[in-house]
Amino acid sequence: CLCCLDPIRWAAQFPSCGGLRQSPINIVTSKVHVNSALPPFEFIGHTNTINITVKNKGHSAHFTLPQSVRLTGGALPGQYRAAQFHFHWGGDGRPGSEHTIDGERFPMELHIVHIKEPYGCLAEAEHDMAGIALLAFLFEEASDDHPYLDAVIAALGRVQNNGSSTVIPNFRLSDIVPSAKDLHRYYRYVGSMTTPGCEQAVAWTLFHRTLSISSRQVTQQCRFWTGKPMTDIFRPTQPLDGRVVYQSKASATLTSTIHLWFGCVFTVR
Ligand SMILES: *[C@@H]1O[C@H](CO)[C@@H](O)[C@H](O)[C@H]1NC(C)=O
Ligand SMILES: [Zn+2]
Repeated sequence: CLCCLDPIRWAAQFPSCGGLRQSPINIVTSKVHVNSALPPFEFIGHTNTINITVKNKGHSAHFTLPQSVRLTGGALPGQYRAAQFHFHWGGDGRPGSEHTIDGERFPMELHIVHIKEPYGCLAEAEHDMAGIALLAFLFEEASDDHPYLDAVIAALGRVQNNGSSTVIPNFRLSDIVPSAKDLHRYYRYVGSMTTPGCEQAVAWTLFHRTLSISSRQVTQQCRFWTGKPMTDIFRPTQPLDGRVVYQSKASATLTSTIHLWFGCVFTVR
């Protein structure tokens, strides 16, 4: 199992893992560049009722998404279709997000992997710097259970062995992902997949809006193929190596429009 190797040793077998545009990263909020050219996304198919297959991939469990789930917008060059989503978490009360904000690690992180059209798979997309669009959400611990995460957690409990799979019937991505109109604020940077081969083909979007999970839900676990608990499944943060992290300028757009409008009124008078 390649991914069970210590991440420090990935680069020996997968040269990209030692590249200059690696993920995840720590986002230093005082150093982000505000960019007014980062518009909201348009999500397609998030409210469709679908049956999703969940498969234990040894290092993680993937929730396969159908081609009807897609996105455009977000300053990405084209249409992207969803491939799968998965989670990163810690264990025994330790936080396990991949990205950190000003050094803070969050309990869990959701990644939704999208492939640019017309590519069919990661191998085809890997030579395009924006061949993959990865949407990331950080979780914060709340006192109440997330109403829709139990189906996801129960499915993880049914795929405890490497290669095993199960189906979640009647699932809607909108049950766990907020609608695009509530996701104006996000960070954007260019990076990589966070497991080998660490392909440097990812336009990352990390939303400011966090999702909630209760402590009861966060302690649920899956298992590695070795039978060990599947815990601490996150890669350490990687150097920025001169990259810039951008932040969308969401609510400010409306304000400047209003200023412009008043400006015109006064000019006419
Ligand atoms: C989901 O699976 C059920 C049971 O197999 C089936 O009846 C239903 O049509 C499926 N729904 C979709 C959207 O494929
Ligand atoms: Zn991931």
